[in-house]
Amino acid sequence: MNENYRSFFGLKKEPFGTDIAIKDILQTEQLVDVKTRFDYVTRLGAVGLVTGEVGSGKSTAVRYAQGHLHPSEYKSIYITASSGSIMEFYRQMLSELSIHRNSNSKTIMCRLIKKEITDLVLDKKLKVVLVVDEASLMRLEVFAELHTICQFEKDSKPYLPMILAGQNNLVDKLSYRSSQPLASRIVARSHLQATTLDAMNTYLEHRLAIAGVEHNLFDQPALTAIHQGSGGLFRKANHLARGALIAAAASNKSMVNAEHVQLAATEIF
Ligand SMILES: Nc1ncnc2c1ncn2[C@@H]1O[C@H](COP(=O)(O)OP(=O)(O)OP(=O)(O)O)[C@@H](O)[C@H]1O
Ligand SMILES: [Mg+2]
Repeated sequence: MNENYRSFFGLKKEPFGTDIAIKDILQTEQLVDVKTRFDYVTRLGAVGLVTGEVGSGKSTAVRYAQGHLHPSEYKSIYITASSGSIMEFYRQMLSELSIHRNSNSKTIMCRLIKKEITDLVLDKKLKVVLVVDEASLMRLEVFAELHTICQFEKDSKPYLPMILAGQNNLVDKLSYRSSQPLASRIVARSHLQATTLDAMNTYLEHRLAIAGVEHNLFDQPALTAIHQGSGGLFRKANHLARGALIAAAASNKSMVNAEHVQLAATEIF
């Protein structure tokens, strides 16, 4: 689809893209709540949980919280989980820690990770934080073992706080008996809900303002249509809002209406 809508509406950049800078992230109540719990988990060296529907803003909220950790004080590790084995997980961890030794032994890999973390904490005086995004994808056997990388000095030193973010079935996976050692370390949970109509309005205005347009481009029925069509979820709202802007520009209308949103809705899932 063509990009004429940007010049038509005087937008300096794509207003509803995914590459939002940390300083531009909208500080919603839920986002601030995630950060508060993230900081608490980090201080305690425990495990925290962030859940929510697809596109509700989990990764953005975690990125926001992680982005506020000062690099002189923190070593932040971010992993996008997969449905692979625990060995796969350890490989990802080692790569994030810039350790390029490989092994086929779980024990050796786990030891390498723990040694590096201990060095970071004791020698470099850094606090380490591990974020595992898409954790709902992980196999049950990974949940059953993951707590072992958080155990230092006979489980007496909380050197590796961990935030698990993922879809709602993450809670189901943590409810299994085999996941209990990990689940029992959880001290804080955030669940991102669908946003309200008012909050959606604030969100759309905020994203337009970042792209250089300070006035509203969506009439009230268009806003309602975006809110309903997206189920209050940001990613879907982004797609609807962008598609509706394109449709409005194509019909030479300076305000987006509900019909434009309906047209946009035919293009997305
Ligand atoms: N607080 C926010 N401020 C600005 N934009 C946001 C915010 N939260 C979410 N978004 C927008 O919504 C999009 C979807 O958010 P995000 O990727 O964080 O959702 P998610 O819950 O992690 O989705 P998934 O379940 O697919 O992993 C982001 O690309 C971003 O554009
Ligand atoms: Mg995500």
